[in-house]
Amino acid sequence: MRPFTFNPGPRLLSGPGQAQALADTLADGSCLLVTDAELMRLGLVDAYRDAIGAIRELTIFDAVEADPSKDTLLAAVEAGRAAGAASVVGLGGGSPMDVAKLAAYLLGSGDDLEQIWGVGLACGQRLPLALVPTTAGTGSEATPISVITCEGGVKRAVNSAPLVADWAVLDATLTLGLPAHVTAATGIDAIVHAVEAFTSARLKNPLSDALAREALRLLSANLLTAIAQPGDLDARSAMLLGAHLAGLAFANAPVGGVHALAYPLGGLHHLPHGLTNALMLRHVLQHNCEAARGHYAELAEIVAPDCAGQGTQARAALLIERLDELARSSGLALRLRDHGIAFDQAPVLAREAMKQTRLLVNNPCEISESDAQRLYEAAW
Ligand SMILES: NC(=O)c1ccc[n+]([C@@H]2O[C@H](COP(=O)([O-])OP(=O)(O)OC[C@H]3O[C@@H](n4cnc5c(N)ncnc54)[C@H](O)[C@@H]3O)[C@@H](O)[C@H]2O)c1
Ligand SMILES: [Fe+2]
Repeated sequence: MRPFTFNPGPRLLSGPGQAQALADTLADGSCLLVTDAELMRLGLVDAYRDAIGAIRELTIFDAVEADPSKDTLLAAVEAGRAAGAASVVGLGGGSPMDVAKLAAYLLGSGDDLEQIWGVGLACGQRLPLALVPTTAGTGSEATPISVITCEGGVKRAVNSAPLVADWAVLDATLTLGLPAHVTAATGIDAIVHAVEAFTSARLKNPLSDALAREALRLLSANLLTAIAQPGDLDARSAMLLGAHLAGLAFANAPVGGVHALAYPLGGLHHLPHGLTNALMLRHVLQHNCEAARGHYAELAEIVAPDCAGQGTQARAALLIERLDELARSSGLALRLRDHGIAFDQAPVLAREAMKQTRLLVNNPCEISESDAQRLYEAAW
């Protein structure tokens, strides 16, 4: 066995109704709660606002947009500084959680954001941090990563151990009202995290493999139920746990080519993160198929248990087929043209994708700029 390191995630509070338990874990002093306006409107923040507000001074920053910008992050930091925040809670999908993580770090460490982009450069102390996901997708509550949209629509990330939260709450009742298209897109994002962690070129290890396998099992078995029967708490719980396990897996064995090619679609065309992964999934997996054949064949047995007797080539092809069927059945429109992207955008997208070097190095085989252009054209 190759030597490996594994960083565990946050401590968990799992199950319905954890607001009081979370409030009791927070540090003394003022708390900054980071969320978005839609979640405020839906009332999903109420129990947390009431429980924390009853015992701490509470400031709510609810101006986080999908794919949050650097300006939004800096505004959240300013709100925390003005309030003298001693702890941060992020409640929402990946967007509010990513802002909360980086705000807690910048407030606690005093570091300059421009010096910490990339891997392992944030080494200071953040404020105490708790994360409460309301989508079953990014797994951001488990990861040391925060993704921010910067100048020119380029997505940049801070990926450093201090960004792992102290606590995460997995309460699937918060996800019961997710609209079908958000359930679908965020669920596919989580599935891609599991698959890309399992084929991650450098840091894949026995623990990330076990987490990725179990994540793929939970997610692939429950995604369509969660879409068709949104009130099914068992399916929602399985999706939330699956997304969390996939987050733990890719926190240690980072994602690759699907995400690298997905990011320019989010940054330049403002498509939701999960949808951009769904758009590129089939094409990047086909590109990787020979290099990742053995790993894809192993994963095929999870999504198609009856394929065990087939050879690795047939099983790898079957994995791609089954994941594509799942994405199609989820109701997402899966061609770039369906989302207003012109065919001649492919070279621009390919050039942008080459900037995602932190992700491309994890792909099981090289993706050159001309490969990327061909893959965008195939996805068109
Ligand atoms: N940090 C990481 O490890 C990591 C990993 C993958 C993606 N990301 C980032 O996360 C962001 C995407 O996060 P996301 O896909 O969770 O979406 P999101 O947070 O942007 O939310 C999408 C939409 O769903 C709504 N929503 C969220 N929860 C809801 C609920 N329970 N009921 C009804 N509506 C709800 C939100 O208001 C928003 O309009 C992107 O910026 C992406 O780059 C981060
Ligand atoms: Fe993702």
